[in-house]
Formats: sequence, structure tokens, C-alpha cells
Amino acid sequence: MERSLVLLKPDCVQRRLIGTIISRFEAKAIDIVAMKLIQISPDLAKQHYAEHCEKPWYPGLEAFITGAPVVAMVVQGLDVIRVVREMLGATNGLEAAPGTIRGDFSSSRQMNLVHASDGVEASKREIDLYFSDSELCAYDVALTPWFRAEDE
Ligand code: CDP
Ligand code: MG
Repeated sequence: MERSLVLLKPDCVQRRLIGTIISRFEAKAIDIVAMKLIQISPDLAKQHYAEHCEKPWYPGLEAFITGAPVVAMVVQGLDVIRVVREMLGATNGLEAAPGTIRGDFSSSRQMNLVHASDGVEASKREIDLYFSDSELCAYDVALTPWFRAEDE
């Protein structure tokens, strides 16, 4: 079982797409184990996007990601890191395949609605940036036996 840090970015919140996007994860039997609405500070943005801090487009990204609240979530499931990245689609909404979240709702390279961790190490680092251990909920999801077989 894997976990991934998902952010519904400021464009998603402002465009009233929170429910629409979360419903896709729910329909896919991906479990939400933590969730909160927060305002990202410039400091947190630099930590989150450390790999991009020196890029010429980073100042624009920081202004965007700190410009309105985000919904931060930890999701859990089998192969959830890869599955969620595939549900998001390519970074640029103009290149993302139809049927993906970015392909269906974004026409932008920057304003692409959702962030998701891109690997196991990134997921650990990013979950720690946004959540304390006590904020992660352990609970039995009642419908799991109707979403997959016991040996999967
Ligand atoms: O989010 P993803 O991992 O698909 O893409 P990334 O290449 O790691 O870039 C992180 C985020 O920076 C993107 O999701 C865009 O919001 C933003 N970005 C941007 O503003 N301008 C670019 N030229 C590339 C990415
Ligand atoms: Mg990335």
C-alpha cells in the first residue's frame, strides 16, 4: 500500500472544481487519509518545489501556488503514486490526454489544477512537509471488499 501527497492547486479551488476532482479519486477507490484547506507560504513553496527553485519560471509558479488556498490531501491505495500521476496526465494541460484531469480541465502549463508526488521518496518528503503523523487517519474503508479481491 502506497501513499501520495496530492494538492488541489489554487486554480482548482478558485474554479470550484474541488468536488469534481475529489470525486474522481473516490470513484477510483483511492482512499483519503488526510485533508485540509491551507494557504501555502513562499517558504513552504520553496521547500515543496526545491527542484525547480532556480528555474526561470519559478517566480511565476510561486506567485500562483501562494495566490489562493490549496486543498492538501494524503491519498492511499495500491500503486497509488503511479495511478494518481496517470490520472493527472502530462504537466501541460494542452498536451495532457483527454480523460485525464489536466486533459479534461486545463489549457495551461502552469495552471494544471493538481499536484501529486512522483515517487516513493518524494511522497515521504512531501507528506512530511504538509502533515504531522497525528493528522493521518487510520480507518477501515467499509466498501473495500466491493472494490477489489482480497488477494489483490
Ligand atoms: O507537476 P508536474 O510534476 O507534472 O510538473 P513539474 O515539471 O514538476 O512542474 C511543477 C509545476 O510547475 C507544474 O505542475 C506547473 O504548475 C509549474 N510549471 C510552470 O509554471 N512552468 C513550467 N514551464 C513548468 C511547470
Ligand atoms: Mg514534478
